[in-house]
This record gives sequence, structure tokens and C-alpha cells, in this order.
Amino acid sequence: MEDLIAVLTGGSVQFLAALVFLYVLLKIFNRVRYTGRKRPPGPPSLPLIGHFHHLLFGMPHHSLAKIAEKYGSIVWVELGAVNAVVVTSSDMAREVLKTQDHIFASRPSGIVVEKVFKKAQGLVWSPFNDHFRLARKIILTELFSEKRIDSFKDLRRQMTFRTLRTAFEEGHAKHYINLADLMHNQFISLTTRMLFQLDRHAQNKDLLEIVDDFTSAGWFVIEEFFPLLKPLDLSGQVRRLKNIGERYFELLDSIIDNRLKENSNSKSNTEEDFLDVLLATSKFSRVQVQLLLLDIIIVGTDTSSDTIVWAITELLRHPNIMERLQSELDDAIGKERLVEEADLNNLEYLQAVVKETLRLHPVAALGVPHYSTEATKVAGYDIPANTRVMLNLYAIGRDPKVWENPLKFDPSRFLNSSIDVKGQHYEVLPFGSGRRKCPGMNLALVSVPYNLAQLVHACTISLPKGLTHLDVDVEEKFGMTVVRRNPLNLLLKRRLPSEVYRRAGLQFSDV
Ligand code: HEM
Repeated sequence: MEDLIAVLTGGSVQFLAALVFLYVLLKIFNRVRYTGRKRPPGPPSLPLIGHFHHLLFGMPHHSLAKIAEKYGSIVWVELGAVNAVVVTSSDMAREVLKTQDHIFASRPSGIVVEKVFKKAQGLVWSPFNDHFRLARKIILTELFSEKRIDSFKDLRRQMTFRTLRTAFEEGHAKHYINLADLMHNQFISLTTRMLFQLDRHAQNKDLLEIVDDFTSAGWFVIEEFFPLLKPLDLSGQVRRLKNIGERYFELLDSIIDNRLKENSNSKSNTEEDFLDVLLATSKFSRVQVQLLLLDIIIVGTDTSSDTIVWAITELLRHPNIMERLQSELDDAIGKERLVEEADLNNLEYLQAVVKETLRLHPVAALGVPHYSTEATKVAGYDIPANTRVMLNLYAIGRDPKVWENPLKFDPSRFLNSSIDVKGQHYEVLPFGSGRRKCPGMNLALVSVPYNLAQLVHACTISLPKGLTHLDVDVEEKFGMTVVRRNPLNLLLKRRLPSEVYRRAGLQFSDV
């Protein structure tokens, strides 16, 4: 390996020659592999980088949507040395996530999975194997069961109240507050407390810092796509991520040691956190427990908070829709009490607003990549084994062949409609579908509408002075999740009489 590094770092000429050689080999390999077979169509590729330029400039989910418009709903792209198929229609998604789900339910490996996620011993990056089946079953039945989600109801309420208190204190002092930061802080605290109930420990601060570092770290690592660059870590990104990982594993070691010393048998079901549950199953090694929890932190935190920010963005851009939602809440709840989770099922328009937000702004725009475990055919095209499959969930939700006025934010399209966002209807798949469907969906479908309802019912929301609804943009930034590019700074104040909040247990310092 050192020899290889020496060759690569020895001079740019040798390095370039090595890259060209690898490229030619790959081309020959691909051609031989595809002799007599029908590959999905795709745009012409460039030497060495293939179609990488389409992802580097502009937003990947937009670029891939444009490619699909020209080449069809299943296209072949080469990202450096990585071959991938991109799926961009509900029919193709059904084929991959339902009909042939057993073939496409795996995940690709890579340098980050190897080094940070310790060879995929958690859930998100686990290949489709026995560990995956066991981990997924326990996560679904033990961590995200209806009963368990319900057991954290008071915690969710408490966290939302904490957010409202901060927002009102800032609002009272006429300070504008960045909604994404406010929501991010709430969901980080909520997730870490569901997982470890750490608030009483000094370790909580360290954990929050690590989680913050993880969620704000760039996860795009160029070396994943160019095998020759892997040993170099030119961007330093793998090293950075690995360092954060090491801090996490070290901290978790001491948290687990402490926990094992405590007598957890005395805890009732409602007092248990996710760590208690995973340790009690004794089905997983220590590293596996640490990785399962890390997965939930990384994919379960910002997905919900960013969805709330998109919902408020669209409501501010459409005052008539905001008004209709507020009227629904005022009619159903009144102005004498705050919304509770038990109200959510009766708030039809609120549910429609959430669905429409998830259709237009699926924060996991390209999902999590799937991976074929055997060669197969999709729509008459040959897909080899070990091919990465990306689902453009963003473009599927905006498909003009399926959706009327697809770019219009119009929650009423979900009223009296049988189409839901839970993975049974392939026209809108914000949580994916099939064996890899998001296991946190039911939790997200409580916490997102609950927080949205509180913001709209319990707060007046004002834009900075001089701005109107026409100034609220929907510019995106692509990262782990697709977020607003520009901050949404808002003034949040109480909308209901003070005693309503006090009666609900929400105290302020300024009254
Ligand atoms: C609005 C909120 C959320 C959205 C839009 C969302 C979306 C997604 C999507 C698209 C996937 C990939 C599905 C696939 O591979 O086909 C996924 C996977 C996953 N999500 Fe979520 N998610 C959300 C919230 C959550 C929450 C709150 C949690 C946990 C607390 C969570 C945990 C996971 C996990 C563990 C996976 C990996 C599943 C696997 O590989 O088998 N998600 N999510």
C-alpha cells in the first residue's frame, strides 16, 4: 500500500498515467460486461470522471432530473469508477422497491462505511443480510412500535415547549430567530434524550457537540468514486469524519459502562430509553449497539426539523393556505388550549399540508442508495449485480405526468385523496418503500405535524420588517438533507392569551 501511495504522490505525471490506465481498464471491463446486453440509456460520459460533472455543478437532484427528462425514467450514470442507475418515475420505483425489492434491498459499501461505520454493522449501511434483518426487526418492533413512540409523548411535548419558550423570549425582545437552528436544536435534544436520556449527565454536552459535528459535517467524499485516490484522502474528509466517529465511540463506551452498572431491571417500559432496550435484547455486540444508535442520530434528527422548516416556508409564501390551516386549528382546538398530539388525527388540512410539504420537499431528495445483489432486468434493461441504484424522490414527487401543476404548493390535492406518503403509493415516496423504508416514519409523522401545529396555532409568525410573502424563496442547498439555502429569520410571538400557555405548563420569564 505504501508503494502505491508513493507512486501516487511521487508526481502528477505518474498519477495521471495511473488514472488514465485505470479508466481504460474500467471502460474495457464495462464493455465486456455489457457485450450482448442492453444497458439503460444515459448521457455521453467524459473520460475519467464519467458523469461526475453533472453532480458537481448545480444540485445533484436537479441535474439528475434533467437527465431523466431527456433519457427516460431509468438512466445509467458513471460516477468516476462507480456505476449507478437512477430511477425517476413511480412505475420504475415500484419495480425497484416492490417487485424486485429482494434484489435491490442492499446498500453499497465504500470508504466512509468501512472506516466510520465500522463495516456497516449498524442499520442504514448494512448490506441485505441476517444482521440487517435482525436489526431492522428489533428497531421496528422495539424502538419504533406505536407503544414506544407513545411512551415519548411527554418528552416531545416538553421539548416543543422548550422551543416555544426560547422563541417567545427572543420574540418578546424583538429578536429574529433562525427557524432552522431552533428546530435543529429541538430535534437533536429530542433524539439524544430518546436514545440515552442523558440530560442529567455531564456527558450530554459532549454528546450534543459530537452530534452537531456529525450532522454539520460534509458527507460527500470524492475518494468514494475514484478508488486510486482512496489511500490519499486528499480532501481530509475521511480523517475528519473518522475523528468525530472516534470521539463518539469513546463517549458511548463510557455511557454504556455506566449503564451496565445501573440496575436497569427496575425501570418500567416508559422509563426505558433506546440504549436500555438495545442492551436488554443482548442480540448485538457493543459496537453494533453504538452504530445502531449513531444511525438514528444521523438520519433521524435533521430530516424532521428540515421538513418543518420547508412547511413553514411554504405557508409563509402562501398566506391563504396559512390562514386556512390556522382556521382549521382555531375551529378544532379553539383559543383556550394548546394543540395536543391526540388532536392530530382530526386535523385533516394540517395532514394535507404535511403531505404536500413532503411531496415538494422530500429532504432525502435522492434517498439512501440501494444496491443490487444479483443481475436482473428492469423495464427490459440489464442491471448487473453490484450496481448502485439511486431513487430521485424529489423528481418523482414533481412528475408532471402524475401531478397536476406539480410545482404548485397545494395541500388540497391531498384532501379526499387516497394517496398517502407512507410508501404504498409510488407517486410520492418521501420515506422510500419496501424492505428499506424509513423505520422512523411513524415517529416523524407525529413530531412534524405536532410542531407545525404548535407554530401555527400558538405563535404569530412575522417576517423581518419590509419583507412580504413574495420575498420568501425556496432556494435549496444539497447535503445530507436538502435544506433552505438562505436562513429563514422570523419573529415568533404568543398568539393566544398568556394563561393558555401557563395552564398547559409552559412558563415564561417575561410575563
Ligand atoms: C421527515 C422525516 C424523515 C424523512 C423524510 C425520512 C426519509 C428516509 C428515507 C428516504 C430513507 C431511505 C429509504 C430507502 O432506502 O429506500 C430513510 C431511511 C432511514 N430512516 Fe428516515 N426519514 C425521516 C425521519 C426519520 C426518523 C425520525 C428516524 C429515526 C429516529 C429515521 C430513521 C431512518 C433509518 C434508521 C433509515 C435506514 C433504514 C434502512 O436502511 O433499513 N428517519 N429515511
